[in-house]
Amino acid sequence: MANSKYEYVKSFEVVDKLLPNTWIVVRIDGRNFHRFSAENEFEKPNDVQALNLMNSCAVAMLEEFPDIIFSYGVSDEYSFVFKRTSQFYERRSSKILSITVSFFTANYVMKWKDFFPQKDMRLVPSFDGRVVCYPSNENLRHYWAWRQVDCHINNQYNTCFWMLVLNKGKTKKEAQDILKGTQTQDKNELLFQQFGMNYSNLPAIFRKGSCVFKNKVEEIVKHTESGDPVKRLRKKVVVSHCDVIEDRFWKDHPWILDE
Ligand code: GTP
Ligand code: MG
Repeated sequence: MANSKYEYVKSFEVVDKLLPNTWIVVRIDGRNFHRFSAENEFEKPNDVQALNLMNSCAVAMLEEFPDIIFSYGVSDEYSFVFKRTSQFYERRSSKILSITVSFFTANYVMKWKDFFPQKDMRLVPSFDGRVVCYPSNENLRHYWAWRQVDCHINNQYNTCFWMLVLNKGKTKKEAQDILKGTQTQDKNELLFQQFGMNYSNLPAIFRKGSCVFKNKVEEIVKHTESGDPVKRLRKKVVVSHCDVIEDRFWKDHPWILDE
């Protein structure tokens, strides 16, 4: 077929292929969720149903896209990693990013009523996204550690902040001033002394964030004639709130990074 004289415009498109043989991490983040969470009356500092909704969207992602091998979420953000060898959309950055963001957002809207049956959603949610390639397993492990440390710092601060505001009648400014310059240990002390609260007893979903990945689970596929179960190992997408900074998790789940 002859080219039309207009076809040259295609040559303006830029190549955006991501580096080969690197882990592709896509992180999405809720746009203006400070307002979105207020309008939808999310509980402070953590709304467990809002977090469960995010996790459910991440599960849908892993079930839809087999190249995503692990994901980690906290607050209004979620990070997904595509396996090193992934040829998903020929590793084209804009394709991978736009599909991740739109599939996640569409699920968020579709699943809203499953998690908030009594609430009509106020405001239209949207997520920004970015793609980063990491060359080594160490870099990737440090990425998850970075996000989980962030989760801890933010959650501990927010827990103190909202306890002071909601239970001690402090203004936001007063709470801010009380917490200024405090270290982890001071905040644990404050929670214990003033509220009898042991930070480490808070639900792990708040303290650790959420991991979504394929785990090996034993499944009964049938029973023999004598009634004995026949089991098979199957990979199933699971949500858990584990520590991804220490070696333990990665040693227990070697297939995630070893492929
Ligand atoms: P941009 O991401 O820059 O568009 O702004 P943002 O308003 O989304 O802020 P950011 O992503 O830095 O932080 C997320 C915000 O979402 C938090 O500051 C909270 O206000 C809100 N948020 C997230 N999760 C919860 C929750 O479980 N409960 C409540 N009450 N608010 C939440
Ligand atoms: Mg945000």
